[in-house]
Amino acid sequence: MHSLLFIGGGNMARSLIGGVIAGGHPPAQITVCEPNEAARQALAADFGVSVASERESARCAAAAEVIVLAVKPQVMAAVASGLSGSLGHRPLVISIAAGIDCAALGGWLGAQTALVRAMPNTPALLCQGSTGLFASAAVSAPQRAAAEQLFAAIGTAQWVAEEALIDTVTALSGSGPAYFFLLIELMQKVAEEMGLPADVAGQLAVQTARGAASMAVESGDSAAELRAKVTSPAGTTERALAIFAEHNIEQIVREAMLGAAARSAEMAAELGAATPNP
Ligand SMILES: NC(=O)c1ccc[n+]([C@@H]2O[C@H](COP(=O)([O-])OP(=O)(O)OC[C@H]3O[C@@H](n4cnc5c(N)ncnc54)[C@H](OP(=O)(O)O)[C@@H]3O)[C@@H](O)[C@H]2O)c1
Repeated sequence: MHSLLFIGGGNMARSLIGGVIAGGHPPAQITVCEPNEAARQALAADFGVSVASERESARCAAAAEVIVLAVKPQVMAAVASGLSGSLGHRPLVISIAAGIDCAALGGWLGAQTALVRAMPNTPALLCQGSTGLFASAAVSAPQRAAAEQLFAAIGTAQWVAEEALIDTVTALSGSGPAYFFLLIELMQKVAEEMGLPADVAGQLAVQTARGAASMAVESGDSAAELRAKVTSPAGTTERALAIFAEHNIEQIVREAMLGAAARSAEMAAELGAATPNP
């Protein structure tokens, strides 16, 4: 099993660490570099992994086969630049930072670095994540498999062939949980206006979302087929869906996702221009 180093031991790193250990990765093969002493102690106690301060990052990187950069985008330039002298053994470097592209990462780490960009989403915290992955040309087949195995441990992982498609993944699964939260929130609100107590409306709305998602996962039917099956002619669902269509819900979703993807590309331009010591 390869040695795994996390730079940054926050929420997303904890999820990944929990997932890979549950999947059989030995804790003794995992190290986390993290500035916060309490967070370090909790990681060691909860998972049995080795921990070190962030000042040890370059030394730890020199011994790791897979390095996961799990810090906030704002500190990525400084963190990546600090590792550039420790990658002579050609490890795989995986960045989970939103909005930082391979060109920027390669500029800080070294142009020949084997890089994977991963875009996970928040349900990863419950091992229900959806992650989009992009590999740079320097990534070998075994390194690709290692990256896929890591993110499959916290949900599902899908490769995209072009880096620009990470912006699409961001608009779909990265921001997507919020779209479903909005729908749950609005359905609950309107049900309350229509007379249901808040707790009843909340439980019915949330469980409806969970039940619908479970059907989409387990039935083998497409979302369109499932929708058609619950839409009786001249029934209540048909009336509701007709009103969604009258207001052109498809165009609303299109504009929202195109907006999210455009913002993702803008953020890449802003963050990629960051200097290591701003
Ligand atoms: N959470 C999500 O759902 C999600 C989804 C997609 C992508 N991401 C990406 O995942 C990355 C991590 O997100 P997160 O939610 O896990 O953030 P987080 O909980 O804030 O974790 C980041 C950790 O890195 C530590 N850190 C700061 N500077 C460091 C340094 N120089 N060296 C080592 N560690 C350092 C932070 O310590 P301090 O707190 O002491 O500064 C913190 O513990 C971000 O880039 C984010 O864009 C997150």
